[in-house]
Amino acid sequence: MNKILLGNIDEININDMKQISVDNCNYLVANINGEIFVTDDLCTHEDAELTMGCLKGNTVKCPLHGSYFDLKTGRALNEPADEPIETHEVILEDGQIYISATEDN
Ligand code: FES
Repeated sequence: MNKILLGNIDEININDMKQISVDNCNYLVANINGEIFVTDDLCTHEDAELTMGCLKGNTVKCPLHGSYFDLKTGRALNEPADEPIETHEVILEDGQIYISATEDN
């Protein structure tokens, strides 16, 4: 399986997130109680980077208009956003965070 290296798990503090950019794609990488989630770092409502928002449990709040997204499913939980954000399958190997590479990414 082709995969994309995003970084070391130690770079993401527990219950924190950061943006990691690879090949002009911006990813949100979050560590929720030791579980890693990766989504695109872009709100589906307008062009806001979700890593500029804040985490609440396993959701992220958009900094612009306050929609929450489920980091696991990508689902938009409240308006104004109604489209899900893109989520990525996470692969952990030897402390490194990868996502599986598809034709889309
Ligand atoms: S840009 Fe994210 S809710 Fe509007």
